[in-house]
Amino acid sequence: MQDMLQQALLQDTSFDSFSRAKVSMSVSDPRLEDNPIIYVNHAFTQQTGYARSAALGRNCRFLQGEDTSKAAVDRLREGIQAQETVTVDILNYRANGEPFMNRLLVTPLNDDNGDLRYYVGIQKELNANHRDEDAEHINKQLSEVQDRVEADMSMIIGMVRHQTNQSMQPAEYAALTRRIETLQLLYQEMKLSDQHSNYDSIHMGSYISRLACAIGHTYGRSGVRLNLQLEPIDVPMEIASRVGLVASELLTNAFEHAFDRIETGLVEVRMSQLSGGGLRLTVSDDGVGIPAAMPWPNSTTVGGRMVTGLIEGLEGTMQLGRGAAGSYITIDVPAGAALIK
Ligand SMILES: Cc1cc2nc3c(=O)[nH]c(=O)nc-3n(C[C@H](O)[C@H](O)[C@H](O)COP(=O)(O)O)c2cc1C
Repeated sequence: MQDMLQQALLQDTSFDSFSRAKVSMSVSDPRLEDNPIIYVNHAFTQQTGYARSAALGRNCRFLQGEDTSKAAVDRLREGIQAQETVTVDILNYRANGEPFMNRLLVTPLNDDNGDLRYYVGIQKELNANHRDEDAEHINKQLSEVQDRVEADMSMIIGMVRHQTNQSMQPAEYAALTRRIETLQLLYQEMKLSDQHSNYDSIHMGSYISRLACAIGHTYGRSGVRLNLQLEPIDVPMEIASRVGLVASELLTNAFEHAFDRIETGLVEVRMSQLSGGGLRLTVSDDGVGIPAAMPWPNSTTVGGRMVTGLIEGLEGTMQLGRGAAGSYITIDVPAGAALIK
């Protein structure tokens, strides 16, 4: 099952509805030999012509070629070695051999202890007819994306930090990919376009609906229905990213575990505005239910720790109910601290 998941993620098909941010993004793992790419978004595969499966596991220098400036490569190498953010314009080549100028920003991401964990690359193609003000706009866009990605990735890394230093198992990569894509989907809701970016507030109903459909598509199967009842609520970005990550964990759990050896089932997601201004999100299923003996949330799993940490960060509450069939989990996020408009 886990291999199938990994396969599905690598095949670049099932998560197609994710990752359509206009700026392409890659993540590498410097703890692995030669700092290989462990994640690329959809825009990266579009820009370079390389499928996900062709890019993962390789150092990103495979995009370079004959006329790539040695000075640019040197700057990249020195910046990366010094664990600094580095920006270069570098000649890269698509899978079909066509060259393109890539404005590339590479930045290190540290965990809470200050130890290097990942590098993120943010790539934007420069056209020959880009004017100076366009170039300035692109720089602004790259650094905005960098800020956002740094904040969000730090959140994921912070939650995952209990993991050992050993290299990750395929299923853990799949989970990491899903978490990054949960945020990528949020970036789409941010209306990140070539013209402007709007980070202020997110249409939460629309975000959760796209997230649930994408997760259902990847982790669900034909007999399991997905029912959504979502009120249109606008919430600030910081809340949206956390609630989105929680929803992603709960939904994946429901699709993966609730229907063990059951042919048909129902997963429901409800979200409503609380009278006091907060938000209530319920994810329920009518499957086998969470066994009474199983600790919940499970602090021995990354997902369990993430959910607990995220809810705490939101000053929210979370409750598990065991129904006649299946289980339901309700999270309440208070309007407190004026977090939710
Ligand atoms: C996350 C990340 C993304 C990168 N993206 C690119 C890229 O899009 N194009 C490129 O030419 N190099 C890219 N690089 C740089 C190369 O992987 C490599 O670090 C560079 O060529 C210098 O090292 P080298 O001299 O060992 O080749 C990226 C590096 C990292 C860590």
